[in-house]
Amino acid sequence: MARKIVVTSGKGGVGKTTVCCNAAIQLAKRGSRVLVADFDFGLNNVDVMFGMENLATYDLIDAVEGSCRARQTLIRHPRFPTLYIVSSNRVPEKYISPQALRLVLDALSPQFDFIFLDSPAGVGEGFVRAASCAEEALLVTTPSISSMRDADRVSGMLQGFRLGKVSLIVNFVKKELVRRGAVFSPEEIAVALRLPVLAAIPEEEQLSLAGTADRSRPFRRLADALLAKDGEERGQSLFAAWGRRG
Ligand SMILES: Nc1ncnc2c1ncn2[C@@H]1O[C@H](COP(=O)(O)OP(=O)(O)OP(=O)(O)O)[C@@H](O)[C@H]1O
Ligand SMILES: [Mg+2]
Repeated sequence: MARKIVVTSGKGGVGKTTVCCNAAIQLAKRGSRVLVADFDFGLNNVDVMFGMENLATYDLIDAVEGSCRARQTLIRHPRFPTLYIVSSNRVPEKYISPQALRLVLDALSPQFDFIFLDSPAGVGEGFVRAASCAEEALLVTTPSISSMRDADRVSGMLQGFRLGKVSLIVNFVKKELVRRGAVFSPEEIAVALRLPVLAAIPEEEQLSLAGTADRSRPFRRLADALLAKDGEERGQSLFAAWGRRG
């Protein structure tokens, strides 16, 4: 059965979809069977990020409504044969229950090692849907105070769900500023939010899925951390690469 991991954040635009797609690619490169399920209904862009738009015949809502079988929603990535996405092109006109979505994911689960649920930002209905269907969470934040404060609120909300593990991804890290002590380091963010950091991802001028080997390094580390038995320990070792404040 797949590990179902919700990728969430307090603030929008902090890199949830980027993290989902890049982590999925790195895991697929290691032979894992990975599904990225777009839970950002109506504002879905997993398909866009993978360059796979307009390929969906059915989406998650079709499967929930019974218009198709769960496996008919799967779209295989053209380059990585063990990587699939499920789209969510339609806005739910009526309330689609977390239970109904969980049934769809449960039907797909035996075919995968990982299912990433790309959540909308914030703590609205979309967040509840995604968090209810997951067993683990990756909470994405930037080093800014406002993003961290919103992440802390989401972290509190996540305690209301049955999640075995919640870890942080710190994105848009500016190495030089961390070295100078001008911004919080990933280590300090871990302490402030009382959560382990699984990956610290530098801000790149142009971050794309086809990025250079160097740019994909943080995501390779993230994949390693996700595959490691003790993800926390691996996550902590990241700090050696970032230096400390003070
Ligand atoms: N480390 C990074 N360096 C540079 N650009 C990045 C980085 N991470 C993400 N981006 C860019 O930031 C933008 C927002 O990223 P993304 O769509 O992944 O955020 P999101 O949290 O999913 O947003 P939303 O809340 O709208 O769903 C994208 O243009 C993406 O390419
Ligand atoms: Mg997104």
